Amino acid sequence: MPSNKAAYLLAAKSPFEFHPAPLTQPKPHQLLIRTRAIALNPIDAKVHRLAFFPLTYPVILGQDVAGEVVEIGPDVSRFKVGERVFGLAAGSYDEPEQKAFQEFVVLREDLAARVPEGMSWERAVVLPLGVCTATAGLFLEQHLGLKLPVIEVGTGRRERERERERETVLVWGGAGSVGGNAVQLATKAGYEVLSTCSPGNFEIVRGLGAREVFDYLSPTVVQDIVSALQRKRIAGILDAVGGAEAWKFCVEILKGVEGRKYIATVLPTSSFAPSHDDGIEIEQVQALSIKDTDVGKHVWEFLGKALEEGKYETAPEPLVAGRGLESLGKAVDVMWEGVSARKVVVVLD
Ligand SMILES: NC(=O)c1ccc[n+]([C@@H]2O[C@H](COP(=O)([O-])OP(=O)(O)OC[C@H]3O[C@@H](n4cnc5c(N)ncnc54)[C@H](OP(=O)(O)O)[C@@H]3O)[C@@H](O)[C@H]2O)c1
Repeated sequence: MPSNKAAYLLAAKSPFEFHPAPLTQPKPHQLLIRTRAIALNPIDAKVHRLAFFPLTYPVILGQDVAGEVVEIGPDVSRFKVGERVFGLAAGSYDEPEQKAFQEFVVLREDLAARVPEGMSWERAVVLPLGVCTATAGLFLEQHLGLKLPVIEVGTGRRERERERERETVLVWGGAGSVGGNAVQLATKAGYEVLSTCSPGNFEIVRGLGAREVFDYLSPTVVQDIVSALQRKRIAGILDAVGGAEAWKFCVEILKGVEGRKYIATVLPTSSFAPSHDDGIEIEQVQALSIKDTDVGKHVWEFLGKALEEGKYETAPEPLVAGRGLESLGKAVDVMWEGVSARKVVVVLD
């Protein structure tokens, strides 16, 4: 049996330390993978640098991982030993075997998909948390509850008819990890998508499927989006940025348009007090709430097939910050300095 090694935080705000870690056997519907690439998410940097919430140390961080299946647990039906997969390391901080910053990781079968032949580890690994968070906000009944994404075959009269009656989704922040996946998933579900990002990322976000893209720093961004939504019906907003400024803009937009007055947002809304007279609801999305749901299973199966057929983009573009677990500290530094439309990745040989 091989040995495992993990990047540990032994105390709040301490640097990573690299120590042997248990190698856990997968339980029913779980896979054990040998890690080949890890992607970083803002939460990893917030926990590492700010000790964002209280934790019992030592902890292992990380949610996005790709690698080869080395063992399958009982009742696994979708994957075989030796296959290349990527998925969400979906454990809480007291389930360290299901965290990404280590050489062997336990994944759930329902939150994993195959890496298509010819696709690099670093491309596939950018997807998991962005996909899960976008899925929770767009498709879970308690949030926007939209129709699910499907793989389109051809276009024609039916497509044009759907075009006429379809609703619009606004994705606030379409160049990021959550936002880019939300743009793609809502488009694949048949909605028209409008989005915002920096002007330098307009082409990227259009390429993911957005019909129109707006600069969130423009002084007329609210008016411009409200104008674009006239004679249309909004199915709601997926806010992939969060915070007072984003919420203020999203609320102003919903006041001026017809349709569902709901904002699914990525950040906690405790600091936000919407006026109840305008009927606008705002709620935080939790990526992990798609665990054990039909919605989660559907989207991950869709994702595997869509990637296989070349009908889903791996966005944001990976930015490889180093090789080996020991590069994770540097990778956090790169993300902390700020990236735009890039996902910081570490590759393991
Ligand atoms: N609740 C959950 O389960 C959950 C899960 C995942 C992530 N999150 C949170 O969601 C947020 C986004 O995560 P991510 O991984 O998608 O981050 P990301 O890839 O870094 O994307 C963030 C995007 O926000 C845009 N942005 C930055 N400042 C903005 C502003 N003032 N107004 C409008 N847009 C702005 C940027 O667009 P440009 O580059 O075009 O400027 C950037 O692409 C983070 O706070 C993260 O912690 C929550």
